[in-house]
Amino acid sequence: MPGAIYAEGLVKTFGDVRALDGVDLDVPEGTVLGLLGPNGAGKTTTVRVLTTLLRPDSGKAVVAGIDVLKHPNEVRRAIGLSGQFAAVDEYLTGRENLQMVGQLYQMKAKAAKARAEELLERFNLSDAADRTAKTYSGGMRRRLDLAAALVVSPPVMFMDEPTTGLDPRNRQQLWGIIQELVAGGTTLLLTTQYLEEADHLAHDICVVDHGKVIARGTSDQLKARTGGERVEVVVHERDQIAGASEVLAAFGKGETTVEHHTRKLTVPVSGGAKLLAEVIRELDGRGIEIDDIGLRRPTLDDVFISLTGHAAERTTDENGDGEPVADAKGRKAARKEKAQ
Ligand SMILES: Nc1ncnc2c1ncn2[C@@H]1O[C@H](COP(=O)(O)OP(=O)(O)O)[C@@H](O)[C@H]1O
Ligand SMILES: [Mg+2]
Repeated sequence: MPGAIYAEGLVKTFGDVRALDGVDLDVPEGTVLGLLGPNGAGKTTTVRVLTTLLRPDSGKAVVAGIDVLKHPNEVRRAIGLSGQFAAVDEYLTGRENLQMVGQLYQMKAKAAKARAEELLERFNLSDAADRTAKTYSGGMRRRLDLAAALVVSPPVMFMDEPTTGLDPRNRQQLWGIIQELVAGGTTLLLTTQYLEEADHLAHDICVVDHGKVIARGTSDQLKARTGGERVEVVVHERDQIAGASEVLAAFGKGETTVEHHTRKLTVPVSGGAKLLAEVIRELDGRGIEIDDIGLRRPTLDDVFISLTGHAAERTTDENGDGEPVADAKGRKAARKEKAQ
């Protein structure tokens, strides 16, 4: 029995770009799937296909038990979507935007009003409720868009990078809201560029790159594959990199990565704070001066390095504006490599 969100072999090309290259997903009812990947990985395209906004070239998708390609209208009634690009009406106030959504879903005017009020409060928009959305900051729009997606609570929800552009406080708050939603039985597919976020919210994680799922598992499983925590050291002088590298190699559980221009060395470790203290003593004993040292949890980049042997490609699309040029080039290069 497929889950509440199911996809098999989704392929979607845009000209030269293979945005989806055979994506398979299966999200059990009442759980959260984190679709984790860098810019251009195919996250938004996956969400657009599953939410009926885009037809794939091939493949199969079933959402809430309904075939997405055969019955898109029925699927639309069963899902909620918060897009990567806030879809609010600029000329309406925050309050009006939310009430309008309620009315679109055939809520009674009074109920729509009460729900709008509650969401404005929850998303810290009460003070700005009667201003038109075009006066809102990016973060405020983002919150309004999320609030709009929550006016009704559909059984299946999609959130595309819901916290991109939010400050830490609003991010935390949104995490809380998402957790409540899921506790209430909602199935959620969430895309993110942050392992930390997927870690916090998702039962299962699919790591995507170049339109393919390159790894799946729980956060713990993925982290185990990356070797867990890291010690990160910035040495004071470039000529101390070699010495520091030797020290880290002795304490590390995997390969040390070195970033010469920032004089930063990173190595996966186990042993936490105690080990960190030992590393500091050893560096000090060898007279290696450090500018900064710390223990940190793996990032998406670490997951990538351990899965693919290289860092997640950084394209010019750092702000997620969908700029395809640099990416199309990257993809062409990748295909060439494969062909060789
Ligand atoms: N409408 C489109 N036209 C051309 N290329 C597109 C279009 N939408 C997405 N792409 C390309 O498909 C790839 C995947 O994009 P997307 O799904 O938006 O990635 P993500 O959301 O993971 O950043 C990228 O290379 C992107 O540039
Ligand atoms: Mg996207």
